Amino acid sequence: MIDANIPVCQHWETRDAELALSAADAPSMTQNRTVATEDENDGVRINGFIARTSIKANRAASPNLTGYTMLSLYIPRAALRSSVAPRQFAAASTAVRYASTKTLQQTLAEVVPEKREQLAKLKAEHAESNLGEVKVSHLLGGMRGLKIMLWEGSVLDAEKGITFHGKSIPQCQKELPNADSIGNKGTEMLPESMLWLILTGKVPTPEEVKGLSQDLVSRAKLPEYLEKIIDSFPKTLHPMTQFSSAVAALNHDSKFADAYNRGVKKTEYWQPTLEDSLDLIAKLPSIAARIYYNVYGKGDGKQAIDPSRDLIENFSHQLGYGDKEGLTDYLRLYVAVHGDHEGGNVSAHTAHLVGSALSDPYLAYAAALNGLAGPLHGLANQEVLNWSLELQKHVGDNPSDQQITDYLWSTLKSGRVVPGYGHAVLRQPDPRFTALSGYCNTRPELQASPIVKLVQRLSQLAPVVLKEHGKTKNPYPNVDAGSGCVLYTYGLDEFKFYTVLFGVARAYGALPQLVYDRALGLPIERPKSMSMDALFELLK
Ligand SMILES: CC(C)(COP(=O)(O)OP(=O)(O)OC[C@H]1O[C@@H](n2cnc3c(N)ncnc32)[C@H](O)[C@@H]1OP(=O)(O)O)[C@@H](O)C(=O)NCCC(=O)NCCS
Repeated sequence: MIDANIPVCQHWETRDAELALSAADAPSMTQNRTVATEDENDGVRINGFIARTSIKANRAASPNLTGYTMLSLYIPRAALRSSVAPRQFAAASTAVRYASTKTLQQTLAEVVPEKREQLAKLKAEHAESNLGEVKVSHLLGGMRGLKIMLWEGSVLDAEKGITFHGKSIPQCQKELPNADSIGNKGTEMLPESMLWLILTGKVPTPEEVKGLSQDLVSRAKLPEYLEKIIDSFPKTLHPMTQFSSAVAALNHDSKFADAYNRGVKKTEYWQPTLEDSLDLIAKLPSIAARIYYNVYGKGDGKQAIDPSRDLIENFSHQLGYGDKEGLTDYLRLYVAVHGDHEGGNVSAHTAHLVGSALSDPYLAYAAALNGLAGPLHGLANQEVLNWSLELQKHVGDNPSDQQITDYLWSTLKSGRVVPGYGHAVLRQPDPRFTALSGYCNTRPELQASPIVKLVQRLSQLAPVVLKEHGKTKNPYPNVDAGSGCVLYTYGLDEFKFYTVLFGVARAYGALPQLVYDRALGLPIERPKSMSMDALFELLK
């Protein structure tokens, strides 16, 4: 909240075309507003927001407009420095603070002691409790089902799918603040909201999300040295290789590595880890967009950032799709649902494993991205679309069920997997697929898309074939089955780039866990391995 005596409303600006501010609004605009400041070269800009319903002109002219709108107040540096600065400017320069809402850092600082207490209780009461047998089949079978990791952000149930601190994806879609609630266009939950939930276990208010979004956007610009590194990559280098290399290079600026080298206390490790994580989450879209521009020549070559936009809206503009609202909102949903899928998957586990050596978040997440680049993990979404387009070419735009079924069998008989189907843990259709597919049903342009229609029909037909085939333990679609067809429909048809988008998203789960790893002082990960000779010896 800002001091009630400061800026009168004519100093505030809005980009909201549907609103007109008038002097009568001044009292309401000095209340209930979350405010963040940014330094500009020649002054300070204060960004705040306000419920549209509390603006008088709006209430009279368009009573149905709801949500929040962005307000911006510019204070020239001369006015800040001047001893005779207008009263409202002088007051604004000192009185701006977060008061009615908490920052993510403040909220987490309250959560960390609770989590430490929970860990102490677990150790005291259950350290020797048994979580199941370890069999040779586990050792040979990729450790499926073994409960061997602590992971706070989400839990995956084979039947119910993913929940984030107990909330299913449909619940998150209902409860987490969306773009509209912070004054932007769009109805899908914001990834910023999901990040807040994953990190703190709490549903943020729109004001809190707005503050976080502005904070992230203010961190999104890439350092010049990194731009040069990215620009030096050959265009032919796979975008995922470019992505992980660029992320690793950012460890040049790691606040955690710096704090560690300065001998910061172990109990405080989580704070610079959080700062690195927020910096990285904010910069990932800019890195991805620069790679996209360099490799495909599409998008804004400078990765410009507009502080009034949320992180993904900026990303969409950076990629060159800012005019496609449907894609922007889809990307918000995409990033939110791809963020976390408990800890055992290759990318999340890798970040945790590498981070357990106290490697900084950039090194840990670069390693995670290399795992995500594998065809059985994140690269599958690239393969799904390739395969679906081959199918479309083969059967045309209006295929019969039999034609699709025959194609599925020909894929299986040639020894290939049906990409986008099956899952190592899930035994039901992936709720992330359901959410993304549900999005298609809300937009006419997607309902009319032949490739979207084909993917939706496949989700009915492929399980029948896979069940009959009898090998895969889960014959249902996973998240990768549906994610690419929407991107393709909106013109983002560079398949090799799809896993980069997944990589932008996975940070929302993997990096918060690194923060928890440090807050809880978890040890370096070091399971025991055995050779076959040693196993035979042991089992004699
Ligand atoms: C996701 C995946 C890697 C999980 O692997 P998994 O845990 O080993 O899966 P299962 O236990 O069900 O595998 C049992 C058998 O079914 C096969 N199988 C699994 N999914 C299959 C699919 N979509 N098509 C054909 N066969 C499949 C496996 O290859 C395995 O065969 P094998 O015994 O000859 O090695 C696997 O389902 C797959 O390769 N899917 C296609 C790629 C994909 O969509 N990846 C994205 C995952 S989010």
